[in-house]
Amino acid sequence: MSIPIYIIDDEPAILKALKQLLSIEGYEAEVFSDAREALKKLHRDWPGVVLSDINMPGIDGVEFLREVLKVDSEFSVVMLTGHGDISTAVESMRLGAYDFIEKPFSNEHILDVLNRAGEKRALVLENRELKDELDAQTGAGPRLMGNTHKIKVLRRLLVQIKDIPADVLIRGETGSGKDLVARFLHYNSHRKNENFVAINCGAIPETMIESELFGFEAGAFTSAQKKRVGKIEHANGGTFFLDEIESMPMALQIKLLRVLEDRRIEPLGSNRHVDLDIRVIAAAKIDLLELVGKGEFREDLFYRLNVINVEIPPLRERREDISLLFQHYAALASSRFHTDAPRLTNDQLARLQQHNWPGNIRELRNVAERFVLMGGQTVFDEPAGGDIDDATTLAEKVGQYERDVLEAALREHDGRLIDVQQQLGLPRKTLYDKMRKYGLVKADFKLS
Ligand SMILES: Nc1ncnc2c1ncn2[C@@H]1O[C@H](COP(=O)(O)OP(=O)(O)OP(=O)(O)O)[C@@H](O)[C@H]1O
Ligand SMILES: [Mg+2]
Repeated sequence: MSIPIYIIDDEPAILKALKQLLSIEGYEAEVFSDAREALKKLHRDWPGVVLSDINMPGIDGVEFLREVLKVDSEFSVVMLTGHGDISTAVESMRLGAYDFIEKPFSNEHILDVLNRAGEKRALVLENRELKDELDAQTGAGPRLMGNTHKIKVLRRLLVQIKDIPADVLIRGETGSGKDLVARFLHYNSHRKNENFVAINCGAIPETMIESELFGFEAGAFTSAQKKRVGKIEHANGGTFFLDEIESMPMALQIKLLRVLEDRRIEPLGSNRHVDLDIRVIAAAKIDLLELVGKGEFREDLFYRLNVINVEIPPLRERREDISLLFQHYAALASSRFHTDAPRLTNDQLARLQQHNWPGNIRELRNVAERFVLMGGQTVFDEPAGGDIDDATTLAEKVGQYERDVLEAALREHDGRLIDVQQQLGLPRKTLYDKMRKYGLVKADFKLS
C-alpha cells in the first residue's frame, strides 16, 4: 500500500525532512518547490494525498488548493500552516481541504493525518469505480451478469476501455457473450446515441462483402442502379462490429486494414471519400494468431485490431455464475411464457454445475427455457461420456463415468429400478443413494 504523496513547500529543508520521513514509512513521496509543477501532474484518478504549505511565494496555498480541487473536488489535501495562522487554515477547510497541520509538527501526528487522508482517497476512488460499474450495468446498455472474480475483472476492463479511442479485439467461445460485450462497450460509451452496426463476416457471401462494407455509387457496376451507403459509413460516429472476423476473406482483409489505418473510405465507383470517426470492434471464436501462423489471416491486420484485447472466459471457468444466470433466464422465460418458474432442486443445480457448457451462456439460456417449459422435469442431458475428458481429478472422472453408466441403465430399463439393480449388481439402497448424488430421477426415464 504505497500511497503517493505530493509535498509542496518553498523551504528546501522542510521538503527534505518530510521526504525522508515519508519514504521511510513506505510512502511514495515527491517534492515540489513550485506548486504549479504539482498541479500539472494531478489528474482525476490520482490515488495520492497532497500536502501543501499555505505561505508560499508565487501561487499561495489557498489558491493552489482551489486549483487542485478543480481537478477533482474529492482530492485529500492537507495544509501546513504557520504558527498562529489558524484563520487561513479554517478557510481552507471550508474550501474542501481534508485537514491542516500546524508547524512545527510531530512525526506521529503528520503520519497519522496522511494515513487517514490516504484511506479517504482510496475510498473515494473505490466508490467511484463501483458507481461507474453500476452505471454501466444499469444504463441503457445490456447487462453483463455474474459475480465471479473473472467476470468482475472483465466488467472493470470494459468500463475502463469504453471511451478509449482504440480498436478492440474480442475473443470468446461460441455463446460466451462476444456480441453482448460489443454492445456493452457501445451503449456505455459516448457513442451510444450513434449507430451500432454489426456485420457477420462469415454470413455474407464473399462476392457481396465489399459492396456491403463500402457501399457504391449508382452505376458503379451493372446491377448498381441506386447509390448505396455501405455499412462502415453507416456506422460513422458510432461503432462498427465485425463479428467472426476469422472468416473474412484474405482479399478483403487488406482493404479493411487500409480503412482502419486511413480512417476513411471511398465507396465503389466514386472518387469522393468519407472521413470516418468509428470505433471498430472485432470478434473471433478462435485464436487469430494461430491463423496468422498458418497464413490464413494477415498479421498486420491482426496487430491493427488487437490494440485492446478482451478475452471472455468460458462459462466452465466461472461455474459460480451458473446458478445466477440460470435463475435469471428461467425467470425471464417464465414471465415470457406466463408460467411459474419451477423450483430447481439441489440435485439439478449440482448437475448444472457439473456440466461443461460447450455452448456457454446461450446453451445455459436454452436449458433454462426448456426447464421452465417442461415444468422442471427436464433432464440436463448430455451425450454419454461427453464430459469425461474435461474432468480434472480422478474422482471427478470416475463420478462422471458412474453417472453415465447409471443413466444409460435407467434409460435402457425405462426407469425400472429393479432391473437396473440387477444389471449393475447394486443393492437397492446404493442405487438410490447414487441416483440422489447425481440428480437422477426415476420418473425421467419412465415411458409415458
Ligand atoms: N454475462 C452475461 N450475462 C447475461 N447474459 C449473457 C452474458 N453473457 C452472454 N449472455 C447471453 O448469452 C447469449 C449468447 O451471447 P452472445 O450472443 O453475446 O454470444 P457470442 O459469443 O456472440 O456467441 P456466438 O459465438 O455464437 O456469436 C445471449 O443471449 C446473451 O445475452
Ligand atoms: Mg455472436
